[in-house]
Amino acid sequence: MVPKIHSLGGYIHEYQKSVTNPEAFWAEVAEGFYWHKRCDTVLEWDFKGPSIKWFAGGKLNITENIFERNLYTIGNQPALIWEPNNPNEKTRLLTYFELYKEVNKFANTLKQLNVKKGDRVAIYMPMIPELTIAMLACARIGAVHSVVFAGFSANSLSDRIIDADAKIVLTADGGFRGDKITPLKNIVDEALETCPDVEKVIVYQRTNSKINMVEGRDIWWHKAIEGMLEECPAEEMDAEDNLFILYTSGSTGKPKGIVHTTAGYMVYTAYTFLNVFQYNAGDVYFCTADIGWVTGHSYIVYGPLLNGAQTLMFEGIPTWPDAGRFWDVVDKHKVNQFYTAPTAIRSLIALGMEHITNKDLSSLKVLGTVGEPINEEAWHWYHDHIGRNRCPIVDTWWQTETGGVMISPIPGIIPTKPSFATLPLPGIQPVIVNGDNKELTGNSVKGNLCIKFPWPGMARTIWGDHERFRKTYFSTFKNLYFTGDGAQRDEDGYYRILGRVDDVINVSGHRLGTAEIENAINSHPLVNESAVVGYPHSIKGQGIYAFVVCGELSTGGEEGIRKSIKMAVTNMIGPFARPDLIQLVPGLPKTRSGKIMRRILRKVAEGDASNLGDITTLLDEEVVDKIIDGALVPVKR
Ligand code: WT7
Repeated sequence: MVPKIHSLGGYIHEYQKSVTNPEAFWAEVAEGFYWHKRCDTVLEWDFKGPSIKWFAGGKLNITENIFERNLYTIGNQPALIWEPNNPNEKTRLLTYFELYKEVNKFANTLKQLNVKKGDRVAIYMPMIPELTIAMLACARIGAVHSVVFAGFSANSLSDRIIDADAKIVLTADGGFRGDKITPLKNIVDEALETCPDVEKVIVYQRTNSKINMVEGRDIWWHKAIEGMLEECPAEEMDAEDNLFILYTSGSTGKPKGIVHTTAGYMVYTAYTFLNVFQYNAGDVYFCTADIGWVTGHSYIVYGPLLNGAQTLMFEGIPTWPDAGRFWDVVDKHKVNQFYTAPTAIRSLIALGMEHITNKDLSSLKVLGTVGEPINEEAWHWYHDHIGRNRCPIVDTWWQTETGGVMISPIPGIIPTKPSFATLPLPGIQPVIVNGDNKELTGNSVKGNLCIKFPWPGMARTIWGDHERFRKTYFSTFKNLYFTGDGAQRDEDGYYRILGRVDDVINVSGHRLGTAEIENAINSHPLVNESAVVGYPHSIKGQGIYAFVVCGELSTGGEEGIRKSIKMAVTNMIGPFARPDLIQLVPGLPKTRSGKIMRRILRKVAEGDASNLGDITTLLDEEVVDKIIDGALVPVKR
């Protein structure tokens, strides 16, 4: 199996080994897996190209490492525990053996529909077991899954289907979320109006919503799997064959299809899951993320299942039927490890203690957070009221691009500190670099967070745009992977993540490019131009503040235009990208060369315009005064 760290001495020893001889370190971890053929070389790399190959020459299939490797020992133990949106509906439980059979059946279904190794399969599904089954079925036959979060709009879905050139889409009639139903199939229908290359749509019946099935294109899931065999030989994959594409936002342009490959991702998610959550056989592990984001890929599906763990998948939302739902689920299933986002914690704090005090949370052993910096107040609340002072908190820093957790305490082993992700995991070599490309060594430093050596879980490219991959991550700082985050290393050598230093904002743990939101706003016919920045928001972490220049106002006046701008963003991206504040302004602060000075807008949105920094290049100072006068937050001058 995968080596597990048991003590602080063990961590120090493993870390040192991983830095002095990374290849030997990772070769040893890889030993625990099932390979058709061992690799020829452990690592070949070059950050200039960049070109990164882990376990090159190795042959394997990731699903054999979930199933065949474990079936004799844990075949009859639960793999997937599914908790439905409605607490009165029955829980579904699939053992490893049952999940294996479902995966094979669906793999055979895909094969029959002519899906071949390397083909991309778009998945737009709610949080139901069939989503996991679909992903693993793709992996079984070597198809590349591209899961699209079921909160994205038709327009975003269509962009992703086209970019990945998927010919098949998997969806459901609808998805339950609290007391609402998301009309997934209708959204797919709308998206496919602009995707002429999609040949088949498989539809799982979940909500019994009235939908339209397109003759010759759409097939019901239950019909499609009828009569399929429960055995499907695993496709032999090269270590560096693509496993999946997952889109994420960047500081410019359209979303990037982050590509992860087979062996490195497998080794890295398995290793980090076991160690970061200190999972023990028989534990019940619950990650509240949606599988549409990387957290769900790595730490609901692959990491846990590769370790033979029991992974709980929750269909619903934290606030329905009431704000105690997470704790009811923890109590009902006796959850041992619980992993969520700071924004969820903050929203539950705001909803009061009455949903927590009489819940039995005694099964909990480890608490985790991910997605954004956790403020000290939320950290203490989580520690005191959920962990009841007995559970270490793992503040896990990582990214879609890193595949798995990079910096995190090992619970019970590395002492925690509120709002610090603490120390790098074995194999990870973080560095802090200043604006002049200089590495800041020693402790008590602050700057740009980079990684100076490859790790197996790292992304290999951006789908269809390797040059963008190079430019985004490997060109800012010489020979380093640049994360886009700022970080501090304190006097103990502990890392604290300070947030993004680029034009990416983090809203309720959702990563959004300001340029993306601006494009959506600018699609509104009355908008001339706009600039979007983040501002501190007590629950969401960051809120979205849009400064918008309009030509004329429609009949609805200012309120009307604000409403219709929000609609435009909902239609172009999804409801989670809707601006919180929209200020109509006479103009934007620009340099003489026409560049928007976002720094000024950020200061206004943060409520402190007392020191705007160097404004000598500013074209029109009066515009700034007008913006401050009309600001939607109190601004100190
Ligand atoms: C960005 C990556 C990785 C899973 C979820 C987000 C921020 C992530 C932390 C943390 C402070 C964090 C960073 C990062 N972030 N974890 N523990 N503390 N910030 O994945 O959507 O790719 O976003 O989320 O800014 O760059 P993602």
